[in-house]
Amino acid sequence: MRKLSRRGRQTVLIVHLVAAGAWIGIDVIVAVLVMVGRFGSGLETRSLAYRALAAFVVWPMLISGLVCLATGVLLGLGTKWGLIRYWWVLVKLVLNVALCTVILAVLRPGMGAVGDYGRDLLTGTPDPVEVSQLFYPPAVSLTALTIATVLSVAKPWGRRGGTPARKPATERPALTRTANSA
Ligand code: HEM
Repeated sequence: MRKLSRRGRQTVLIVHLVAAGAWIGIDVIVAVLVMVGRFGSGLETRSLAYRALAAFVVWPMLISGLVCLATGVLLGLGTKWGLIRYWWVLVKLVLNVALCTVILAVLRPGMGAVGDYGRDLLTGTPDPVEVSQLFYPPAVSLTALTIATVLSVAKPWGRRGGTPARKPATERPALTRTANSA
């Protein structure tokens, strides 16, 4: 792929950061709703928290995850970083794909039961098994996104295969220096 222009890279990076920030924000909202659903005072409030979780959370989360993935891939392919050239990019790619897969394959199918549980809270005695695992998704996702953010800033571990990205200036061909000094 052609390298991104300076302006293009900035634009894609801004969208990438906004998507990553939105994703983290939605995860925080999920964590709050799960806590309110479990420990909130009053059945009305708890029921509302579960119904809000079921109705509003999955698609915004999935969309921000996919935008983050798409812009991340563009940044990787359009800059010196590559997609699998550096460990920190590869690990972020794996984390992002894994999280989006979990949202689609695990979270989304379970949301119907969460909504039912919220409604049943007001009318009867719902089965708590349906919501007992709800603490895990925001905890796992926030941990993974924090790791991805740290990796993005620290850019650790260097290049895959241990080869340096570029030779230091002193090791570049004498041709450059000869040409400059001519
Ligand atoms: C998992 C969620 C992700 C989060 C929270 C995240 C976060 C970030 C942050 C905070 C930066 C800015 C770092 C800086 O400028 O110092 C960044 C840059 C970058 N991200 Fe992500 N990212 C994620 C996913 C991805 C994915 C999936 C890829 C590629 C497959 C990717 C590739 C990149 C690249 C190449 C840059 C550097 C852009 C540049 O400086 O030109 N990111 N990311």
